[in-house]
Amino acid sequence: MISYENKLILAPMVRVGTLPMRLLALKYGADLVYTEELIDWKFLRSKRRNNDILKTVDYVDQTDGTIVFRTCDTEKDKVVLQLGTCDAERALKVAKLVENDVAAIDINMGCPKEFSIKGGMGVALMANPERALSILKTLVNNLSIPVTCKIRIFETQENTLKLVELLVSSGIKAISIHGRTRDERPQHAVHTDIIRYVAENVSIPVIANGGSKEIEKHGDIYKFKELTGCTSVMLARAAEWNCSIFRKEGLLPIDTVIKDYLKLAVDYDNSPSNTKYCVQNILRELQETPRGKQFLECQTLEQICAIWDLGEYCQEKQSQYQKMGIQGRWQVTPDELEPPHKKSKVMDQIEVEGITQMKVCFIRANFNDLNLPKVRLHEWAGKNGHKLPTYDTQQVEKLFRTILTFNGKKYTSSFWEKNKKFAEQGAALVCLFHLGLTTEDELKKVGSIMK
Ligand code: FNR
Repeated sequence: MISYENKLILAPMVRVGTLPMRLLALKYGADLVYTEELIDWKFLRSKRRNNDILKTVDYVDQTDGTIVFRTCDTEKDKVVLQLGTCDAERALKVAKLVENDVAAIDINMGCPKEFSIKGGMGVALMANPERALSILKTLVNNLSIPVTCKIRIFETQENTLKLVELLVSSGIKAISIHGRTRDERPQHAVHTDIIRYVAENVSIPVIANGGSKEIEKHGDIYKFKELTGCTSVMLARAAEWNCSIFRKEGLLPIDTVIKDYLKLAVDYDNSPSNTKYCVQNILRELQETPRGKQFLECQTLEQICAIWDLGEYCQEKQSQYQKMGIQGRWQVTPDELEPPHKKSKVMDQIEVEGITQMKVCFIRANFNDLNLPKVRLHEWAGKNGHKLPTYDTQQVEKLFRTILTFNGKKYTSSFWEKNKKFAEQGAALVCLFHLGLTTEDELKKVGSIMK
């Protein structure tokens, strides 16, 4: 069972807190690492799989093959899964799924984004303490691992303490407090006094958060800890910008951090887009330099790695993984996808006369950024002097289908996709097939033809 005393913690950060960054934080000295916030209902669409090649446990979204959560043994006793939820039963279902793969579960009660608030999650739970309490109680009473939550502060210390006392009554093992109110933004000063007041008045460990603006070197973490009177400190932006902030020996140059990060991204077959996002957040204003601009042009992991002299490392690792049978990220076959019956019903209502159609679904995980159907089609059109195709997307309820027009002909996939981008790619696959630029066998290989 993990303890929350005297810990340096990587905060939950959407898109940043994926496996490579968590492992990097641990390598540099973090004691605990939080995942990015994972939304309960999205998580429930996933299936657990052992990835024998990477030696990871993957939770794979069954609707598109993307990886919702990837974890490995190195972090097993140190990773805290943060959930976005507004519902005790759903939260428990997810927690039960992952109970044996993570060290603890945290509930996000501090996110002020519209998406969260509208869904009754994040800070919305601070305005609905009874619901917040019931979620925590349900988890505490039914799980074998610790449960915690992360909140923001109210305007007064008394109101903040009142809420914390109520939440503590659920049996949670610790509470993280971001010392800003729901309307304050990162540039506002952090209210260390309110965090301190709560820490002095509750019986469980309080984890101080919100100090990154003043944390430029490792020693500053302890100043923040002292100011807040907390036992543990959680860092988001300071770690996002330079993860070696966790090193007690001192900060490393960002090129070293990027290299260390990229090796992990390659080792764990992280997606190029997520890798790029994380490196962008390390580079920040350096994206304006010639090398930064070159980096922004990159689309594959290998191209990114080459800038930091790791091109060969990436190539070797990727070909090793390919030989072992990995193909991009998870190969998902249509049989494993959600049954398409709901989609077919919608499809039947639409007239498709004069349109070449096939039932092809676009499975993002089976493509890399360079062989996306649209990229291939546009490249071919360019090389052969054709005008680029146009895309017209229809939406019915929450499903999308695109009619692609190319050289006066119309193409579509009768498989309704969950977003516009995927629908366009699906239509592009149909067009590629009819132009003879991809074969049925190839389509089957990427698992795209639906029965
Ligand atoms: C965040 N934050 C956040 N908080 C949370 O509870 N769940 C999340 O998924 C995220 N996502 C996220 C992404 C990014 C890019 C940033 C910068 C922040 C908030 C974060 O955990 C923290 O509370 C604040 O950033 C304040 O702490 P720092 O940055 O001052 O250390």
